[in-house]
Amino acid sequence: MKYWIETYGCQMNKAESEAFELELNHNMWESAENPLEANLAVINTCSVRETAEERIWGRIGYYKRVKKDNPSLILIITGCMAERLGSKFLGNGSPVDKVFGTFSKHKIIDFVLNKSDFDPSSNLYKFSKVHTTEGKFKSFVPIMNGCNNFCSYCIVPYVRGRELSRNPDEIFSEIEELEKRGIKEITLLGQNVNSYYYNNGETGESLDFPELLKKISEKVNSIEWIRFLTSHPKDLGDKLINVMAKSNNICRHIHLPLQSGSDVILKKMNRKYNSDFYNNLVKKIKYDIPDASITTDIIVGFPGESKEDYDMTYNLMNSIKFNEAFTYYYNPREGTKAFDFEDNIPKEEKLRRLSEIIELQKKITVLKKKEKIGATLKVLAEGFSKNNSNELIGRTEFDEMIVFNGKHDKIGLYSMVKILFVKGNTFIGEIVT
Ligand code: SAM
Ligand code: SF4
Ligand code: F3S
Repeated sequence: MKYWIETYGCQMNKAESEAFELELNHNMWESAENPLEANLAVINTCSVRETAEERIWGRIGYYKRVKKDNPSLILIITGCMAERLGSKFLGNGSPVDKVFGTFSKHKIIDFVLNKSDFDPSSNLYKFSKVHTTEGKFKSFVPIMNGCNNFCSYCIVPYVRGRELSRNPDEIFSEIEELEKRGIKEITLLGQNVNSYYYNNGETGESLDFPELLKKISEKVNSIEWIRFLTSHPKDLGDKLINVMAKSNNICRHIHLPLQSGSDVILKKMNRKYNSDFYNNLVKKIKYDIPDASITTDIIVGFPGESKEDYDMTYNLMNSIKFNEAFTYYYNPREGTKAFDFEDNIPKEEKLRRLSEIIELQKKITVLKKKEKIGATLKVLAEGFSKNNSNELIGRTEFDEMIVFNGKHDKIGLYSMVKILFVKGNTFIGEIVT
């Protein structure tokens, strides 16, 4: 039997799809070359922006055509959009056979293996185990699910539910298992990892994120890089910065979404910090970890964002100089608080603001990269570069892409690479050891 999985959205979705693939492989399923030869197709969906949902509807139209040539194909919709829209995917000539929301994702495997049917009353999120397939050297490790922050624009708390921190013993044993499988790099995942908090009811012991990270950092051997995503600025404290500064295996990269540089907009977004707080946090990080790379998310065109509000975002990006920024224009999401605000910035203006900050960030990214020319950095080689089989592509601990000379025997291993120059926005380097 063959499966085909399509994954949209964030790393959490990717991690869950990988775990699902692994379970299918354990049960003698194989991955298909294309949906036409598959017995099962799964679309793991995202609701964060309208564009993400539109793509999924497009894919469902595509599967309607695929099913004409492959009528026995079972099509399952899962993930955040499945949680949001549920049975709206079914009926009326829809090619969709089953819908599993976020909280019943883990039941897909039972359904596929005919052990049980869908239980729509399920409301308990279950962390899936060991997120890696054979031959891989990087893995996600989910440590939390859900979000309690209710940023006014965001659908995530509605489709992923309230925060749930994973049992640390489960996390440790999963990481141990990953090491046995040869994994070299892990990324701890959660919508807001800094609010991780686990209290063991039996022993009364509790653990917060800096303590969890410290323990993981002390336990691992062959895993030399530990990453984590995402940090909400309001919850990132000195304790975490100290743990990072003292460790030699926690990557010095923090993804710290700013969203806006205007205090008025940040308040309307319900982000619970202002631009001064954010600025001071960045300064603190840079003081304790001078070479830390800081990346961010920005939304422009939020309801009521005046020209002055937008300029504040532009100016703050220009002064902080993020290593990278993921930029979006505001998308109203039904059910969120901001959906009731007047979406008063015309689309053309949202796009104009967006392209302006994209241009700004491009320049900053290249500028920051050029500062590193001549440095020798540790790189994990991930595979061959697209154009040349004598060239490898890898990443630095700062999550920067680098192309360098090297053969297949270096793939999946750490090398020391000297940065020669920057092409486009990619480092070009030369292997040292
Ligand atoms: N939990 C993370 C955080 O707090 O930053 C990430 C959440 S979300 C998956 C990733 C990014 O999508 C957000 O940081 C935000 O910039 C963007 N985003 C979320 N909702 C949006 C919306 N309605 N319109 C535009 N961008 C949105
Ligand atoms: Fe969404 Fe805010 Fe939660 Fe991030 S912290 S997932 S942006 S509600
Ligand atoms: Fe999208 Fe759900 Fe992630 S809405 S961004 S897949 S948590």
